[in-house]
Parts: sequence; C-alpha cells; structure tokens
Amino acid sequence: MSDLILPGLIDVHTHLRVPGGEHKEDFATGTAAALAGGFTLILGMPNTTPPLSTPDALAAARHTAAQTIRCDVGLFAGASPSQLPALAACAPQAAALKIYLNDTYGSLRVDDVPTLRACFRDWPRHKLIAMHAEKQSVAVGIGLAAAYQRPVHFCHISRREEIELIADAKMAGLPVTCEVTPHHLFLDAADFARLGPLADMRPVLGAPEDVAALWQHLGDTIDCIATDHAPHTLAEKWSPQPPPGVAGLETALPLLLTAVQQGRLALSRLIELMHTNPRRIFALPAQPDTWVEVDAEAQWTIQNEGMQSKCGWTPFAGMTVSGRIRRVTLRGQLVYDEGVVLAPPGSGKLIPTVNR
Ligand code: DOR
Ligand code: ZN
Ligand code: ZN
Repeated sequence: MSDLILPGLIDVHTHLRVPGGEHKEDFATGTAAALAGGFTLILGMPNTTPPLSTPDALAAARHTAAQTIRCDVGLFAGASPSQLPALAACAPQAAALKIYLNDTYGSLRVDDVPTLRACFRDWPRHKLIAMHAEKQSVAVGIGLAAAYQRPVHFCHISRREEIELIADAKMAGLPVTCEVTPHHLFLDAADFARLGPLADMRPVLGAPEDVAALWQHLGDTIDCIATDHAPHTLAEKWSPQPPPGVAGLETALPLLLTAVQQGRLALSRLIELMHTNPRRIFALPAQPDTWVEVDAEAQWTIQNEGMQSKCGWTPFAGMTVSGRIRRVTLRGQLVYDEGVVLAPPGSGKLIPTVNR
C-alpha cells in the first residue's frame, strides 16, 4: 500500500473566517490548506463577523469567495433569532443551514423554541439542517428530526452518551446523521495538560472512554469525518481569554491513513467517511476528473512550519504519521504538487453554482 489514489475529499465543516476574521484565515489560505490536506470541496461555517444570517451577508461572502477560493466551496447560512424573516431567503445562496444550540465561538446561538420551529418550517426541505448540539441538545435535535420528519446532521459528536443516543435514533429509523473530528479521535482530555489552550475547542476533548466509543461507532453509526478546521492565531490562543478551536485540514488525512496502516480502520471505510457519505448527505455535486495521490507508507512528523493555514500551528505537531499527500488534481488540473499549491485564487467553484 504505497501509492494510493483517493477521490477528492470533502470536508463539511470548516471555518474560513470571512468576513471579520481574516487575520486568522481567509478564503485563499483556507482553501490552500484544504488542497494540501487532500480536500477538494469544503463547506464554510457561518459564525463570522457579521454572521452569514442574511442574504446580503451571504452575497458579500460569496462575492469575495468567487475571487479567492482555490478549491470548491459552499457556505452555511447561520440561524439567528434576530434575523428569522431573512432565513428562507438565504437558502438559494447556502449549501445548508447551521443551528448552534450550545455556546461556542461567535455570536450565533439558538435557545428558544419559536426560532427552532421557524427553522424547521421555513428552511427548504431539499437543503440540510446541521446542528452544533452537545449532551442533551442532541436529544433536542433528534426530537426535531422526528417532529418535522426531515434530516438533521449533528456536527462534531464527541461523547459516548451522544453517539449512543444517535445510534438509538438511527435504530428507530429517524433521519439523523453525524460527523466526528480527527481531534476527538486522536486526542483526549489528558492532552490538555500538555497543550493547554492549544487543546481547547468546543466540544471539549473527551475522556478516554468517549474516544473509545467514537472508534467503536466509526464502522456504523458515524457517517462522516469532518475537520472542524477552526484557526485562531497563537497570540489569541495564549491570551487571557483564548478562543476555542484548532486547525485540522492539513492533518486529517495523514492521521486517518495512520489508523488504516495500524489496522484500526479500513481504507474503504475512510473513503466513505471522507468522500462518499459527505457528498450524499449534503447533496453535493460530483467533481469529475478529481483525485488525490498519496504515499501511504511515507512516515513524517507533523510540524507547525510550512502549513498553508494562516494560523501556522496544529495541536498535532510532533506526532509521527504515515501517509503523505503528494499531488491533488481537481477537474483535470494539477492543483497541489509536493508541498506547493498551484491553484490560483478564484479557480475554485462556488456551491451552489446557480442560486436555487
Ligand atoms: O472549537 C470550536 N471552534 N468549536 C466551534 O464550535 C466553533 C469553532 C470556531 O469557530 O472557532
Ligand atoms: Zn461547532
Ligand atoms: Zn465548527
């Protein structure tokens, strides 16, 4: 298993920080990081400043994106109680809707039933609803999926109790799906002692038993691996009030390929989790003539230096992994070659391509 060809990976959970956080990441650097990590299509989160909760905010972000993205990008609309009348009008420009049920970075939060009802009634049925839901909020999301008979996707599930609840909901036939992140699979709460604020994110890192439960459910209950690439500068992370979040686009595939090498994960399952299922669940377009060339046996040690992400650090620095991304081809064009991003800003496609 040395030279592997994988399909272009899809990350349904990245934070590209435009507008308002361009010192952390922007469309050009975030999509360069995506290509360096083997991702050719990514979905950007709406917890920007201002948030992507109105048609105007989405139009402005899409305008900037059209000129600067290097891979294909869709944007989430963000549910906001103060912008509810604008919600349905956001849909033609959005890949999906994001609802934040718990506290995290940014101002988007929904904790009232009228807003939840409006989201589930007004958001078009052909577009997915994704949720940041932790602990009993997962039960809220499952209840909404049942009440409105429409799919709900749970972001970054991290605890045993949550994945077991989702397994029960799936057993009952409810239309729920979920993703887990590499950091919740490869780090646990003990890493906080070593990494301090560099290991702080939402959801926080779990106990070893939570991590074990995620690995147990990777073969069935879990639908996708998503990075939750959430860059912040080192100065921000070491400040008195560090924001939660870690970068993830450039380390996800090497970490998962290492699990394949160790016999913890089948390669066919990795492809389902990082390509096939994300595309089906979010109804994303196919990317013809698109693939990733990997040297699956190349061992290397993850370093902060040389990252494409503007933040320039990773909580996985110092870890030795097996699996190096050599080349990425997108729609027949060589876009990444041995450490060099070749795709120019503006060469990626926006999803949806036409407003519908
Ligand atoms: O750790 C996190 N960071 N979790 C989130 O839900 C948001 C993200 C961010 O935007 O920084
Ligand atoms: Zn989140
Ligand atoms: Zn996130």
